Amino acid sequence: MNVTLRQLKIFEAVARHLSFTRAAEELFLTQPAVSMQVKQLEGQTGLPLFEQVGKRVFLTEAGREMQHYCRAIMQQLTEAEDVFEKLRGSERGHLAIAVPSTANHLVMHLLAAFIKAHPAVTFAVDVTNREGLLRLLEANECDLAIMGQPPANRELVATPFMDNPLVVIAPASHPLADARSVPLENLRGETFVVRERGSGTRDAMQRLFDAQGWQLPVGMEMASNEAIKQAVEVGLGLGIVSQHTLAVELDAQRIVILDVAGFPIMRRWYIVHRKEKRLSAAVQAFEEFVIHDAAAHWSLPGVAARD
Ligand code: PGA
Repeated sequence: MNVTLRQLKIFEAVARHLSFTRAAEELFLTQPAVSMQVKQLEGQTGLPLFEQVGKRVFLTEAGREMQHYCRAIMQQLTEAEDVFEKLRGSERGHLAIAVPSTANHLVMHLLAAFIKAHPAVTFAVDVTNREGLLRLLEANECDLAIMGQPPANRELVATPFMDNPLVVIAPASHPLADARSVPLENLRGETFVVRERGSGTRDAMQRLFDAQGWQLPVGMEMASNEAIKQAVEVGLGLGIVSQHTLAVELDAQRIVILDVAGFPIMRRWYIVHRKEKRLSAAVQAFEEFVIHDAAAHWSLPGVAARD
């Protein structure tokens, strides 16, 4: 077959978006240019790679095969790039990291500290929830992921590097704000603002309520910690969030951490990569930095506030 890498890259973008228009936007090309390259690729395979039903674009069987080989080729190319990068050392290179929004603040601090020592390393950070992290790892679209609860999966190498306590938050005016060792039972009947399905925080909360044989008290569902904190602050309910997401709110005393028996739910942050992934020197340097030095660059918000 006489195909070019450019054709494969264009095909891969169309197959991923199932849209010629979005692929063209992503690649800064015109739509006719994208269609032309796909047509030439189809000329080489002798089979159509896409079919259009109504307004929607689908991969044909040949298209799915092409997507499979295309990913393998791209993967090999990235590996080759990583090998050469390794030969050049850890001072240069690019890191693709996937981060749950819950750990965003923490990871930004770590990146800032790392970049000071490695100014030529560049980063792409994908911020998502636990489900999104698993998808990115599975698709081999990130070098490293930060996770609250890596799956028991032999394909992944997960190293814990920091505690991740989940706490109950309430508006500062809440009647239990100053109470000590509130029994868990007292939270029954409270309204909770909870994270979306697919969130690791929500999973941990679900497990706690399951263990009590209680229904998860979903008063309102929100897809970000920021939204939850704002909802809690104005009295829409209690929230359960990672203590790492609280900083300014505690300092400004807009919300408080309730002292509830059984809390904090103690979890840990892990740094994760795929076992077969060849890590470039820059990626390895960042991983080691996180494992050994994270604690020196970040302190848990609100620790003093609880004591
Ligand atoms: P999340 O956090 O709730 O933002 O998905 C990740 C995790 O705690 O596993």
